[in-house]
Amino acid sequence: MARIVQISDTHFSRAKPHFMANWPPLQDWVRRQGADLVIHTGDATVDGAGSEDDLRDVARMMQSLEAPLLAVPGNHDVGDVGNPYQPVNDERLARWRTHFGPDWWSRDVEDWRLIGIDSMLFGSGHADEARQMTWLEGVTAAAAPRRAAWFTHRPLFIDAPDEPDTGYWSVKPAQRGALLDLVRAHDVALVGTGHLHRWRDATVDGCRYVWCPSSGFLVGPDNQPDMPGEKWLGAVVYDFDGPDVAVRFGEVPDLATLWIDDVLGDVYPHAVRPGPGLLPE
Ligand SMILES: [Fe+2]
Ligand SMILES: [Fe+2]
Repeated sequence: MARIVQISDTHFSRAKPHFMANWPPLQDWVRRQGADLVIHTGDATVDGAGSEDDLRDVARMMQSLEAPLLAVPGNHDVGDVGNPYQPVNDERLARWRTHFGPDWWSRDVEDWRLIGIDSMLFGSGHADEARQMTWLEGVTAAAAPRRAAWFTHRPLFIDAPDEPDTGYWSVKPAQRGALLDLVRAHDVALVGTGHLHRWRDATVDGCRYVWCPSSGFLVGPDNQPDMPGEKWLGAVVYDFDGPDVAVRFGEVPDLATLWIDDVLGDVYPHAVRPGPGLLPE
């Protein structure tokens, strides 16, 4: 058996410590899980896209979890496609890799291949976008007879695989199509994501889509449209055993129920201006 703990959207920062109260309870809880591996699915920092200090500090914090860590970046860690203030670029990607390691990776456990994907590259036109897709096709196809579990920041879709563009919230249809072709062509049995700050465990067309909640803050209705899933803070625990996996919501005691809405202008000043930012366009 291999126990993997997924955490996401911690949004920690020394310069903007609004959500740091949730670090001690998260750190305690993760240490008590006896995880073989911790996967962080992005938005580790408040603003790694703007401040290398955030990346350095939070990567150091994560080293204290007493388990190996693999991470994929979120939009607040490396920037985002269509964000005029913080586009994904060489400098931001290099900073992530310096402090958190590769932004795409694979690791075999039990009868599974865990595959980390950098969803911030999708649609970026950066040279690494095509490199990653070539690698992803190969590493997913070659997983057999293992089953594949993907981990990435942005969910492939919200309600349905064939839905139109959801703006800020999920992968754009153009890139989503190629990813879903891979899911269908191979035994991609699990896709674990972050970004939405909500918990959900739903099986769609035979694949299990798990939304890891944030352990930092919740997003109120003024700043996120109505969508499935639960507005809970926490994490996810996966017990991989041979070809099986048990998935459960990780209830982290003593997390403070913090809301971005109360501090949005302070934490993400660009998001309250017109145009893409934290909010949907
Ligand atoms: Fe987030
Ligand atoms: Fe995000």
